[in-house]
Amino acid sequence: MNATVPISYALANLPRYTSYPTAPQFQALDEASYRDWLAEIGPETALSLYLHIPFCKSLCWYCGCHTAITRNDDRIGRYAAALRREAELLQDALPGHGGIAALHLGGGTPTAIGGAALRDLLQAIRAGFGVRDGAEFAAECDPRTLNEETVEALAAGGITRASLGVQDINPTVQKRIGRVQTDDAVAGAVERLRRAGILRVNLDIMYGLPGQTEAEVAATARFAAALGADRVAVFGYAHVPWMKPHQNAIRSEDLPGALERVRQAETAERTLREAGYEAIGLDHFARRDDSMAVAQRNGRLRRNFQGYTTDPAPTLLGLGASAIGSIGTADFAGYAQNDPDERRYVAAVGNGQLPVKRGRPLTEDDRLRRHVIERVMCDFVLDLAELPESLLEEARPGLERLEADGIVALAPDMLWVTATGRRHVRHVAACFDAYLGNGAGRHSAAV
Ligand SMILES: C[S@@+](CC[C@H](N)C(=O)[O-])C[C@H]1O[C@@H](n2cnc3c(N)ncnc32)[C@H](O)[C@@H]1O
Ligand code: SF4
Repeated sequence: MNATVPISYALANLPRYTSYPTAPQFQALDEASYRDWLAEIGPETALSLYLHIPFCKSLCWYCGCHTAITRNDDRIGRYAAALRREAELLQDALPGHGGIAALHLGGGTPTAIGGAALRDLLQAIRAGFGVRDGAEFAAECDPRTLNEETVEALAAGGITRASLGVQDINPTVQKRIGRVQTDDAVAGAVERLRRAGILRVNLDIMYGLPGQTEAEVAATARFAAALGADRVAVFGYAHVPWMKPHQNAIRSEDLPGALERVRQAETAERTLREAGYEAIGLDHFARRDDSMAVAQRNGRLRRNFQGYTTDPAPTLLGLGASAIGSIGTADFAGYAQNDPDERRYVAAVGNGQLPVKRGRPLTEDDRLRRHVIERVMCDFVLDLAELPESLLEEARPGLERLEADGIVALAPDMLWVTATGRRHVRHVAACFDAYLGNGAGRHSAAV
């Protein structure tokens, strides 16, 4: 790490700014308000859909996702049926729309519902909403369970991109995080996907895990590159046992310290750059011809609840327990989150209700700050001349501190995040966050 960047930056706890305002700022949202929001969506509006499927066959100790461990087919079947029903309810609630531009199946492990249910779900959604030309359909997959039948169902449902969890390839690290998988399992899954015509493959790797050193991180990054991943997401382990008690299986004292985490992140970046990948935003890497690298070069990279995205659709509908959507029209913006409780979610949908629970409409000020935060998280540059004087004056003391510590460079009308500051870009975003420090929420380490 550059000696001019104090270690306090890596130790700070800050939001990941996948939304602004961030989820801890959401408030109770009733169904009638959400229906009013949906009623404003225009007939030409391209839609994105995020479907959350919160099931896995076994628990990874580090997991920070909203998921449940089950092999109960009835429970899973009820949930899959509820997702299809929710899609119908949304279609009825929308006065018109322009079809799906992007769809993301997230989890948990979406393929846990099985090949037949996946096929039915995707076909029902395609037929119900309609699909725009060039739409990208993506699914998160677990290489340990991705069999031939599931891959075929994904392909039949129009999935064009898959992301697979790798984390770390070292067997000792794998034992210490409760996730053992062979290199062959990952390579086999990639091979099956490609054979079925799902040609875009992303791999997730992690640093900051117990027992990990820079050598393991480098070996895992090289493995991901050797498999020809189109994108590699490099996630720093977020240890939040107060929110995810199962993470207590990993002892805090066994985790790499802040400085080591920064070194591991740098090692992953160096290894992937050497293998020909371009760094995207805070934690993604993509081959030069991948759509995410192209979007970044064109200033069209976006940020949503899944992290960095190329998805330009103004409205994202979240389906499934805990899913978050973002409604955007010419003069309205708001976030809506479904009930995270699976039983209540299934029951509400069964009663013909949209199962929304929390969210918030955005004020003019929220929308402005959201735009600034998204641009700096994606571009690492801000045109300060575009900002209202009042916002700039409010942010200036924080930005000047960041300049003194080598995180940003300031000119009268421009802000650049420095090469060493990129990893700490959340601190730059935080300068524009009106809600930070009001006590709501507790976040993981900023690197
Ligand atoms: C939904 S999972 C991916 C699909 C599948 N469930 C799997 O694990 O293979 C999403 C990714 O989030 C990352 N992840 C999970 N828990 C995390 C945590 N506590 N901190 C940082 N990243 C985490 C992992 O890299 C994981 O692959
Ligand atoms: S990391 Fe993936 S497979 Fe493991 S528990 Fe979390 S969502 Fe499930």
